[in-house]
Amino acid sequence: MKYLLMIPGPVESPDEVIEAFNGQTIAHYGKEFRDLYLETGERLSRVLGSKTVWSFLMPGSGSTALETIGATFCNSRNCLIINNGHFGERLYDVATRYSSNVDQVLFEVGQSVDLKTVENQLKKKKYDLVWMVHVDTSVGILNPIKEVASLAKKYDCEFFTDAIASSAIEEIKMDKWGIDGIATSSQKGFSCPAGLGLLTISERLIKTIKSLPAPKSWYSDLKVWIDYYHDWNDWHPYPVTLPTNTVKALAKSLEILETKGIENRLSLHRSVSGKLIKSIRLLGLDTYIPENHIAHGLTAVNTLGKFYAPDFVGFIREKFSIQIGGALNAKMKTVVFRIGHMSEKQCQTRNLVSVISALGVYMKSKNMTVPLDEAIASLL
Ligand SMILES: Cc1ncc(COP(=O)(O)O)c(C=O)c1O
Repeated sequence: MKYLLMIPGPVESPDEVIEAFNGQTIAHYGKEFRDLYLETGERLSRVLGSKTVWSFLMPGSGSTALETIGATFCNSRNCLIINNGHFGERLYDVATRYSSNVDQVLFEVGQSVDLKTVENQLKKKKYDLVWMVHVDTSVGILNPIKEVASLAKKYDCEFFTDAIASSAIEEIKMDKWGIDGIATSSQKGFSCPAGLGLLTISERLIKTIKSLPAPKSWYSDLKVWIDYYHDWNDWHPYPVTLPTNTVKALAKSLEILETKGIENRLSLHRSVSGKLIKSIRLLGLDTYIPENHIAHGLTAVNTLGKFYAPDFVGFIREKFSIQIGGALNAKMKTVVFRIGHMSEKQCQTRNLVSVISALGVYMKSKNMTVPLDEAIASLL
């Protein structure tokens, strides 16, 4: 069964990206592929607002990049995790596997990050690093990484972020904001098939990495990757076999992104998010997250108890062949569903109209009177 994917990742890819992805396996080494790998890494850095050449494309998923931060940088060091959602919890889980000196500033799931609370914690103890999620996909919250990066700098800490659900969707200025490490992946904003964890590290951090202890993990020790970058640079600047098709797809996707302009892409997401929120409110529902903290690549809709959210997720799949996301958190399960608008395809008006039409039809079928025409018009 073919569904229209309106989930918050993975997303469907544009035809050009699928064309780049298709085709026979090629060798993952040799001048031609080595050049593509390095150019793609540099494109990735640019899209994240950095001049660093240290972008690593790692076979795996976004969590491969998170694990690498854990193994290489958290390793036996003082870490502070900012946690306000399912994926914030994951950072804590990863960090505590590599260090027994991990604290967290814990907020309620979906509660906005209070900078004063973060700063108070930074005053209490000297941390080596601060790590937080940019967009927590579980609730659709956009966290203030620019402000927390600045606090981290003030207290002389490294700053890392999980930008898996925000890359190519939200503004990220890695160099300007003083971010030391960004973990992301191929399958959300970059609209590629899953298969690559992406890790971008600041030039500043690469200079100090040698002084860090060796972790128990080999694969997730970034120093191994850096050694290969130096030692085998002319033909194989990475330690493992790469999924060449996914790298080719990512190269194409980043090329398209840069050609069209990253600013244009970000404004598409802002505009779609605004229209969708308006439409949802016209139907008498609301967003789960308060106004100024809503992410722009997905919307977590609060049914306000008007209907059972999982029932609608099943309805839209069965009757409209559209997949949307349910809630990840048990507490929200009955009242929240999530609509993805992370890719250009998901942002197309006709696809958003299909989701809102299905929602209106569903609500009407439950004897609710809703201004469906108006809700659809607000998407145009
Ligand atoms: C914010 C965030 N962090 C981490 C992950 C995990 O990424 P992956 O499943 O690619 O390992 C996801 C996946 O949805 C995510 O949205």
